[in-house]
Amino acid sequence: MRQTRRSWPARRSGVVVLVAGALAACSLVSCGPTTGSVLPVPACTSACQLGPMGRDRGITIGAAVTADHLRDPAYAAAVLENFNAITTEVDMKWRVVHPSADSWNWAGADAVVDFAVRHSLPVRGHTLVWGKESSNPAWLVATTSPAAFRSAVLSAITTEVGRYAGRVQRWDVVNEPFVSDGNELDHNVFYDRMGPDYIEQALRAAHAADPAAGLWINESGLELGTSRADNFIVLAAALVARGVPLQGIGIQAHRLTSSVIQPGRLASVVRRLRALGLQVAVTELDVPIGPTRSESDQVDVDRQIASECLDAGCNELTTWGVSDGATWLDQPENRADLPVLDAYPIPSRPLLLDSAFQPKAAYRAVADILRSH
Ligand code: XIL
Repeated sequence: MRQTRRSWPARRSGVVVLVAGALAACSLVSCGPTTGSVLPVPACTSACQLGPMGRDRGITIGAAVTADHLRDPAYAAAVLENFNAITTEVDMKWRVVHPSADSWNWAGADAVVDFAVRHSLPVRGHTLVWGKESSNPAWLVATTSPAAFRSAVLSAITTEVGRYAGRVQRWDVVNEPFVSDGNELDHNVFYDRMGPDYIEQALRAAHAADPAAGLWINESGLELGTSRADNFIVLAAALVARGVPLQGIGIQAHRLTSSVIQPGRLASVVRRLRALGLQVAVTELDVPIGPTRSESDQVDVDRQIASECLDAGCNELTTWGVSDGATWLDQPENRADLPVLDAYPIPSRPLLLDSAFQPKAAYRAVADILRSH
């Protein structure tokens, strides 16, 4: 079986330097030392809190959260003040919830879902099927019999989706089905043992377990609007044509090169997916800039992603993490997979809230975009 160890391609990072818009003169928050890499940010009242603004416009403004971090009252408060939906960053991944063939560990997932239900936050369950081997438990990878493997996968989907029926509104049923640096389906362990239609099998099993849940496929790199996106749209169109239960496509939008994309590319991908009758969301937005680069680079990228996506009919913007103090990009174990991150020493500062949970310039830029929708 071909190794499917993923490594994010080190994409060249074109640097587009745009002068940030004139900063409103008003009371400043989270100024900290303006070292040239931090832009002062006007005070943010409820009139510019992304969550309430999105709710008023029917736009999901989400953040990926973990059960561990939710135990921190300041983190939990920041989620409630700034977002109107959550994604399970790690607590619903297979290696966490189903560590052995005869054991389940629901503690983290239950904690996140209980928090969401308590605060009426919709949940995106991430993720049921992901070919990245480190996300899957050893016992599953060691199940070499195709029949046994298929049975284990479909049974696990049925169990997990059924457990949260009515409490998890959307599922990333399949995550990153394409090779990380190419334009075709990854021959991952699911493809190899269930066949190329493993995606359809997974979607149908999830639908049977909770017919009311929104079922999504989530992928990286689609925002670039290259042949990768073209081929992915062909895959999505084929699933729709076959009547496979599929409600949406998640565009991860990890902008790990911190560079703006060619204008109009993301909007075009969104429009083509919307034309298939699918919902489209930005699901894992983060824009690392490191400790010294100016936040204006981040403002430009976040502003472009938000405006093009919403203009073209996205209904969700979710960041991969709540604040700069809790980003996966600064965890050493994740840097092994991400050579491109060597360009951004820690702290990578990729999100809309700083490490003190205060809005950054990019937060205000997204709020300005939301305000015009
Ligand atoms: C990441 C988590 O944030 C890390 O904590 C974990 O160690 C590895 O996975 N694309 C995805 C997410 O779809 O599931 C990944 O999340 C980040 C890349």
